[in-house]
Amino acid sequence: MRIALVGAGGMASMHAECYSAIPNATLCGVMDIRHDAAASLAGRHGATPYSDFDRMLNDLRPDVVDVCCPTPWHVDYVVAAAARAHELGIRGISTEKPMARTLADCQRMISAVEAAGIPLFVAHVVRFFPEFKLATQQVQHGAVGKIASVRTRRGGPMPLAWNNWYADFSKSGGCVLDLIIHDFDWLRWTFGPVQRVFACGLQHHDGMQKDYALVTLRFVSGVIGHVEGTWSDPGGFKVTIEVAGDGGLLEYNANQPTGSPLRIAMASTENSGGGVAVPESPTGANPYQLELQHFLDCLEAGITPSITPYDGMEAVRIALAAIESVETGQPVILDGDKPQ
Ligand SMILES: NC(=O)c1ccc[n+]([C@@H]2O[C@H](COP(=O)([O-])OP(=O)(O)OC[C@H]3O[C@@H](n4cnc5c(N)ncnc54)[C@H](O)[C@@H]3O)[C@@H](O)[C@H]2O)c1
Repeated sequence: MRIALVGAGGMASMHAECYSAIPNATLCGVMDIRHDAAASLAGRHGATPYSDFDRMLNDLRPDVVDVCCPTPWHVDYVVAAAARAHELGIRGISTEKPMARTLADCQRMISAVEAAGIPLFVAHVVRFFPEFKLATQQVQHGAVGKIASVRTRRGGPMPLAWNNWYADFSKSGGCVLDLIIHDFDWLRWTFGPVQRVFACGLQHHDGMQKDYALVTLRFVSGVIGHVEGTWSDPGGFKVTIEVAGDGGLLEYNANQPTGSPLRIAMASTENSGGGVAVPESPTGANPYQLELQHFLDCLEAGITPSITPYDGMEAVRIALAAIESVETGQPVILDGDKPQ
């Protein structure tokens, strides 16, 4: 699989490292509006740097285009690559999360790949973190019974990146669209579609280098979600999850020393004090590598990847509803997923 990468910043560098460890992948080109950045990343991986996207496609005729530039431009590259897929033999496109800055852009991307007849993979990497995957399996297998509520917290300092684009709400969508969309996707995957969203938050319109949001979700299933995101914590990146059911409580705290397990405290048993560790076989594999490997394997096998562009769009829909709720002070009714 010959890969052409768009962007040469933090996430593109991570993807490039992953491709170097994936046996059936070769990174051939890196395109960035900053040619020096493209040259630096491409140089580290034996790839060719570009500052012109069409030129990269014409020269390389890649199997896969992987879009890792800032969010508002995902749409341009996905639509342009899809439009030339048939001519150049492009077999699939991957884009970083959030899929796009607006729902209209998500819809344009879906229309473009459907017209081209190729898959679009939205890189919601949290599904590939072993602890989150295991938590989903435990919930779905009834380990804590019928679910009542779920609480997630994710955050750290505001990321510093090219042109300080994360601090520009019109580009990043703040910590709601950029950061806790990870949790919206995992929650929707695990607990089903969302009916209602209510949120409060800072939305840093005044340009301060901080953001914070607290979002409550009511799922169609009746589960209540409490999703907290922060770019106001200078103490390092932290992630926790807590799922309460009528049979017990499942917890995970990523800030514990490496290898700490999910814990399940059973209701009304001797274990209810300390909780039981859920065994796991740590693969040590980088979740970013696992998600990219999954996409390439699906392309080779001709099967649909586990994350569809529709999943990407629904995660954006939940995030934009939360942003609307922050702005209006009112709940937003989604009534579940919107059929395509
Ligand atoms: N999955 C995750 O855990 C995760 C983590 C961080 C970022 N991301 C996502 O990855 C994407 C990139 O974020 P990042 O942190 O790498 O940003 P970054 O600022 O580190 O890098 C962005 C790069 O894109 C280049 N660029 C800017 N505009 C461009 C354009 N129009 N065309 C081509 N290149 C352009 C910049 O020069 C820069 O090199 C974002 O959508 C972000 O939300 C995902």
